[in-house]
Amino acid sequence: MCGIVAYIGNRKAYPLILKGLKRLEYRGYDSSGIALLENNKLNIYKKKGKVADLEGELAGKDLQATIGIGHTRWATHGEPNDVNAHPHYSNNRKLSIIHNGIIENYSSIKQNLIKKGHIFLSDTDTEVLIHFIEDIQWETGGSLESAVKLALKEVVGAYAIVVMSVDNPRQLIAARKGSPLVIGIGVDEYFFASDATPIIEYTKNVVYLDDYEVAVVNDGKLSIQNLDNTETIPYIQKLEMELDTIEKGGYEHFMIKEIFEQPRSITDSMRGRLHAGEGQLLLGGLNNHLDNLAAANRIVIVGCGTSWHAGLVAEYLFEELARVNVEVEYASEFRYRNPVINENDIVIAISQSGETADTLAAIELAKSKGATIFGVCNVVGSSIARATHAGAYTHAGPEIGVASTKAFTAQVTVLALMAIAVAKRKGTISIETYQELLLELEAIPAKVQKVFENASKIKEIAFIFTYARNFIYLGRGLNFPVALEGALKLKEISYIHAEGYPAAEMKHGPIALIDEDMPVVFLATKDSSYEKIVSNIQEVKARKGRVIAIITEGDTFIPGIVDFVIEVPKTHELLTPLVSVIPLQLLSYYIAVMRGRNVDQPRNLAKSVTVE
Ligand code: F6R
Repeated sequence: MCGIVAYIGNRKAYPLILKGLKRLEYRGYDSSGIALLENNKLNIYKKKGKVADLEGELAGKDLQATIGIGHTRWATHGEPNDVNAHPHYSNNRKLSIIHNGIIENYSSIKQNLIKKGHIFLSDTDTEVLIHFIEDIQWETGGSLESAVKLALKEVVGAYAIVVMSVDNPRQLIAARKGSPLVIGIGVDEYFFASDATPIIEYTKNVVYLDDYEVAVVNDGKLSIQNLDNTETIPYIQKLEMELDTIEKGGYEHFMIKEIFEQPRSITDSMRGRLHAGEGQLLLGGLNNHLDNLAAANRIVIVGCGTSWHAGLVAEYLFEELARVNVEVEYASEFRYRNPVINENDIVIAISQSGETADTLAAIELAKSKGATIFGVCNVVGSSIARATHAGAYTHAGPEIGVASTKAFTAQVTVLALMAIAVAKRKGTISIETYQELLLELEAIPAKVQKVFENASKIKEIAFIFTYARNFIYLGRGLNFPVALEGALKLKEISYIHAEGYPAAEMKHGPIALIDEDMPVVFLATKDSSYEKIVSNIQEVKARKGRVIAIITEGDTFIPGIVDFVIEVPKTHELLTPLVSVIPLQLLSYYIAVMRGRNVDQPRNLAKSVTVE
């Protein structure tokens, strides 16, 4: 969703902010803008479309400012156009703001300000906020900092903001509630951004702002206070991220880079945790809580999208191995019910970004009912990671492609480790199964690598189906969530309508869709439901559906009854999703590329969904 970059220091702000905005493009946006403060003038430049469009507009301008704020906007209030793009001016044009999030009570504030003579140019809630700050400063005669705090006490909603004033070219003011904001600390310079990607190139020292905190850089000094003026000592952390992890490294798209990274990212998810040879499994963040997990009456898993699919895989793993009742909920639905949750329940929240608003809200709800919350997050220091009682990072590295790929396999890996650890503690698995699973997990990266040998074959299949209008994905057991994930990947990046179903459910309705124009992807690996899935394939073939089957290496039967097969190496049935999802990621990728789609930034999508 929206992205923030701001800079104050001695370098030229424009190129630095522009580069930062490009780094944030992956979050999803529809317009961009930059405000620069130079020679006592506050100039705002903004444009609908890509950051490159803004860059084109500014080409040839001599922009020397050493302080500025920049933004990529994902429209909420008001259509994507030049006027609604951020930054916005205050009424007297002396202040300017960039904002992520939504000010829910903007309408009543706006009406009051209109009565006072304010003139608004855009349809946005953000413009209302900066006019409101200006109005408070004018009414109280106080500092900009105190006006910002007073205004933020009045607003309802979520925000990360940076404010700049023509009256103080040595000052930037930032604040957050519910939307992330990172401050990079350099030598005599400061960077503000929605995540660390625009900062990493300049400094590794960062401070993650907390909700209700206001950060002020004034004359080269950073101070942080809450809305009631209580000072906090900034907690400076070292970024572990490396620059090459956020660059394409020779690949055409981030998505394909991230798909091919999976042998490494899965290894990283297990690094330091799994030593199969010694029969050792240690999850640092969970060690003190294993008894808690083992004693749980019930585990409730919450997440959205791909993370929810990883949760569905975990349901099978925990139930099978740890014999505990598991429920998997869309975070967005869970938060708007009155769920029956108490202190005997464990909630596991799964999120790549760690910023998903619905998942955060579900956590707060479950916390308020006394449940213990574990997080499975990828982004270190993210809001969800901080809101949970304990957890395990997935350590997949930054995921820049909007379509989640390596984050999914890392989530499944960590959830498998958790399920095995709990099962061991409970004594619900035999030592042989325990050992077998550890060894199999260790072998997964090489098996994923092996699937890549089929990449050119998958590309050929993608070519044949490039212009399909619909797809159905079918799987049973652990491959059912994989079918959902395959369908989601295809629809989000290629815009082809795709549905995932449990294979047996097909005959209860979706079978009506099958004809010679309907491609059906079957997850048909050799597992306990192999015979059943073969019957489902026959049912589709009898109705002339075109079948692409993901099969286990060496299967000689299915190739004889379907149109196309893609082989994956055999693994333990419980770990199958880690290999069976790979061809589906590649198939979606190649189809989307052949259709000329913007694979890394598909239309309408945002990488971290920080609004409801
Ligand atoms: C799909 C995708 C989304 C996310 C969902 C949750 O490829 O990326 O469905 O999985 O928005 O995001 P996180 O995991 O960041 O909470």
